[in-house]
Formats: sequence, structure tokens, C-alpha cells
Amino acid sequence: MEDSIELILQDFTGVFPTNRSHPIVSACTGALLTGLYGLWSVFTMPGFHKIPWSLKVPYLPSSKAQTQNVMKLLEGRRGRLADLGAGDGRLVFAASSAGFQCTGFEINSILVAYARSKARLRGIPLTQATFVKNDFWKTDLSSYNNVTAFLAPGVMELLGEKLLKELPQDALVISCRFPFPNWPQKSAVGFGLEQTFAYDISTVRSHLKISQKTDMK
Ligand SMILES: C[S@@+](CC[C@H](N)C(=O)[O-])C[C@H]1O[C@@H](n2cnc3c(N)ncnc32)[C@H](O)[C@@H]1O
Repeated sequence: MEDSIELILQDFTGVFPTNRSHPIVSACTGALLTGLYGLWSVFTMPGFHKIPWSLKVPYLPSSKAQTQNVMKLLEGRRGRLADLGAGDGRLVFAASSAGFQCTGFEINSILVAYARSKARLRGIPLTQATFVKNDFWKTDLSSYNNVTAFLAPGVMELLGEKLLKELPQDALVISCRFPFPNWPQKSAVGFGLEQTFAYDISTVRSHLKISQKTDMK
């Protein structure tokens, strides 16, 4: 009886899957996954090698609700707006159509090219929407009275320090999804992943008792 079971099992070898995968299949799967990861990182993160690991923020587009929340918080505001990490430009396009003079800072050259071509196709003049391939950490933001950002929790504290040093006293800062630690909020709209926060720089400064960079000179 035992012999016949072994014989039957031998006949079915190759028909039933076993736990052990073939080494060539494993090697090909590994190579394919590595290739796909390489391709993904080329398209989503070019330029990122120059940014310290702790400050890397990958591309993730804002949802429609998130963009609407930003626009609600910008109601009554005007002037120059910087979007830090502009992605495909969706926040910049929404703000420029509301009359802001926008600059989208983006490290990923493919996204910059895409946003620029979208702006050209839509006939948006450069005075309303400009996309710059720049690391915003290395950019002076003192000429912007509106700043929007959809980044990552790990960079918010450092970003807060930069904005407090550089922004004018009448600046409004809007952060999608991730609040600034220890900053008093002016207002917030939306819920969960779509929640968006607004901060008056003057209020934050007086709360933290920090004077403006220009005051310190
Ligand atoms: C979460 S996405 C948000 C994209 C867009 N603002 C939106 O709301 O759809 C963050 C973006 O920031 C960009 N980014 C990350 N670090 C940057 C840096 N230091 N300078 C400029 N852009 C950066 C990424 O390439 C990515 O496109």
C-alpha cells in the first residue's frame, strides 16, 4: 500500500505545487522586482540622492477634497504663494486660478516637466504659475506670504523652524494632513487623511516668542 502511494505521488510530481520554488524562478522574480523598483524610483524620485535620508518625501498626489480644503483655507488671501513639493502642480493650478501668483518648488524633474507642460496646455501665464526644479530646503522663502505643503510627519518640525526664520509677519502657512508640532492652529478643515491646517506666522511667533529673521539683523 505504502509503495503504491509513493508511486502515485511520483506520478504527480510537477502537477501539485510544492513549497520549494525553483532557484531560476526565484532569481528571475528577484531580478524583476529589483528592476521594477529601480524603474519606480527613477520616475518618482529623481534628484532625491542629494537630499538627506531623513528629509526624503516621496510623491503622493493630493486628493480632490484635500485641494478643496486648501482653497477654503486660502479664502480672503492674496499675493504670492509657494507650494513646497509641487508634484504634478495640482495645488498650484487651483491657487493660480483663484488669483495667487504661484511658484511650485519640486525636486523631481519629471514632475516639473509634466507640470510645466500642463500649464502650457492650459495657457496659464508664468506670472500665475511657475514651476522651479529646486530643493525647497535650500530656497529662501522670504518673498512668499502664502505657503502650502503636503509633505511628511518627520519633516514638519524642521520645516517649521525654516518658515519661522524666513517668512514675513503676514504669512499664512497651510499644511495638508500633517500638522506642525507645537504650532497653534488658526483653523483646520476636513477629517482624517484629508484634514488640512492653517497657521498665521505672526500668531505662531508670538506663541513661541520668536522674532522674525529681519528683526534679528
Ligand atoms: C506628498 S507629494 C505632494 C505633491 C503635491 N504638492 C500635491 O499635493 O499633489 C510631496 C512632493 O514633494 C516633493 N519633494 C520632496 N522633497 C522635496 C524638496 N526638498 N524640494 C522640492 N520638492 C520636494 C516630492 O518630489 C513630491 O512630489
